[in-house]
Amino acid sequence: MMMSNPDSYSFSQKHLLGLADYSADDIMHVLEQAKTFREVLDRPVPKIPTLRDKTIVNLFYENSTRTRLSFELAQKRMGADVVNFSASTSSTRKGESLKDTIRNISSMKIDMVVARHQSPGVPQFLTRCVDASIINAGDGAHEHPTQALLDMFTMRQIDPKLKGKKIAIIGDISHSRVVRSNIVGLTKVGAEVVVCGPKSLMPFAVESLGVNVSYNLEETLAWCDIAMALRIQMERIDGPADLFPSLREYHERFGIKMSHLEKYPDFKVMHPGPINRGVEMESDVADSDRAVILDQVTNGLAVRMAVLYLLSGGKRI
Ligand code: NCD
Repeated sequence: MMMSNPDSYSFSQKHLLGLADYSADDIMHVLEQAKTFREVLDRPVPKIPTLRDKTIVNLFYENSTRTRLSFELAQKRMGADVVNFSASTSSTRKGESLKDTIRNISSMKIDMVVARHQSPGVPQFLTRCVDASIINAGDGAHEHPTQALLDMFTMRQIDPKLKGKKIAIIGDISHSRVVRSNIVGLTKVGAEVVVCGPKSLMPFAVESLGVNVSYNLEETLAWCDIAMALRIQMERIDGPADLFPSLREYHERFGIKMSHLEKYPDFKVMHPGPINRGVEMESDVADSDRAVILDQVTNGLAVRMAVLYLLSGGKRI
């Protein structure tokens, strides 16, 4: 991990397109800033109006519950003016192109755009259309950087040291943007990552990303400090019948069960949501005290506040 002298470091990112563009220092800077905002969230009045003069548009072309609500709440807690755009209720339905939509929105003097889109590369494309800061809230199967940052924040709550931490990511490795951002971020800060799932959901040459591969859940759970389960991204799979026999069989081989929690008493369970109970894990596992899934949601708010604050030019507080 390349960490520079804290005195000479300064955060100079304008966008958050993916963790691939962020150094280990940038990542740690965001995570440290998020601690302050996490404390703000525990106050009786959890507001800090540092974005009072900013206007932000949330541009969502793909379904979202957690991410969208989390960004919107983070923006409101910081006093920003917020406009929401949802493709399903907009002129996109009348055939307007993404470029025209964003140019029109931009004429309304927007400072930041939070974008989710089914096509990889859309946030990057937006940086060429408008002057605003762009935050990627998930682009196809490419990256979902704020999710990985909130995952890393949650891991640090369990144990502040990420270097050497043993992280297992279990499930649909091929089609997940969450896994991609986590692999990029976690390897940069020195964590050890194992990806585990059926061969048919494992990308070709995934080891070249700096991770180890396992096809054995039992072995993986015996090894890890954190087990992060991922949903099978059905919306990005043509003909799922080809990739695994059935969800029941998937659960048999790769679902986390109460018996695993008993057998391996140390690992914690994470999931970015939405969970398919009875597939990625038994329902009782999601509700057990070993799961930190709802902490991830709360931390997401703090991490997104930190990202919004730093990208709008704020200095570490
Ligand atoms: C993830 C996503 O959208 O990529 N969800 C999220 O942002 N909380 C994971 C998923 O949809 O499975």
